[in-house]
Amino acid sequence: MRLQGKVAIVTGAGSGFGEGIARTFAREGAAVIVNDLNRAAGERVAAQIAETGGRAAFVYGDVSREEDHVTLLDEAVSRFGHLDIVVNNAGTTHRNKPLLEVTEAEFDRVYAVNVKGIFWSARTVMPYFVQRGAGVMINIASTAGVRPRPGLVWYNGSKGAVITASKAMAAEFGPHNIRVNCVNPVIGDTGLTAEFMGVPNTPENRAKFLAGIPLGRFSTPQDIANACLYLASDEAAFITGVCLEVDGGRCI
Ligand SMILES: NC(=O)c1ccc[n+]([C@@H]2O[C@H](COP(=O)([O-])OP(=O)(O)OC[C@H]3O[C@@H](n4cnc5c(N)ncnc54)[C@H](O)[C@@H]3O)[C@@H](O)[C@H]2O)c1
Repeated sequence: MRLQGKVAIVTGAGSGFGEGIARTFAREGAAVIVNDLNRAAGERVAAQIAETGGRAAFVYGDVSREEDHVTLLDEAVSRFGHLDIVVNNAGTTHRNKPLLEVTEAEFDRVYAVNVKGIFWSARTVMPYFVQRGAGVMINIASTAGVRPRPGLVWYNGSKGAVITASKAMAAEFGPHNIRVNCVNPVIGDTGLTAEFMGVPNTPENRAKFLAGIPLGRFSTPQDIANACLYLASDEAAFITGVCLEVDGGRCI
């Protein structure tokens, strides 16, 4: 078990990549705070982890709100004793469309969740990690942050901000034995796929996106979870400030 004795928060863990990360962490021995805005989805994931012998608790929260991060940290410590790992996975996008059609409300929502969510996470957990003398933060960015394409301009920009802020946090908090890394998934089959494509998730529409991925398939929650597992584990003790593309070669 690669995370035996560790405690992790996974945001947006009610579906998609976050669900895969939460299940994998629990299977590897971590106690997991399963966070989501969608109560039914998050409760389902936490219950299924518990049914298979893992340790998990659902904690409702909107990552764009400071007080919800405080609750996540409090719940991790009160239920499981301490906190070792935060995976900032919750994210959203505007639909794939021309820049001039993206509204202010869509822009604000994307930045509130994808960027400000990590601002609040850092403001909440870094003082705790500094006091403890150790901590791991993993931020789920995207290939969109390093290889942007038309139609997702402000989503691309939000993930670029996540990548740069993660590297800067790695530099600032390294002396406190806190590691900060990113995982950059290529398009996968999740709740956001149709929004990313801007068209229905049909085989014909997927073909265009598949053509740009040398390994010839979309990413899966297990692909992303496996990368997070490595970065969260002590095997990655000397890895910080890295943005790991999990993309089947998309960014080559
Ligand atoms: N699916 C892809 O193709 C893809 C590619 C690259 C990066 N990503 C990133 O992966 C991450 C996970 O997305 P996914 O694809 O699994 O999508 P998803 O919609 O399946 O899962 C996202 C989860 O986050 C939750 N969520 C949304 N806003 C929230 C908030 N404010 N507070 C708490 N929870 C919230 C949703 O309820 C949902 O359960 C996101 O950061 C996304 O940008 C996805």
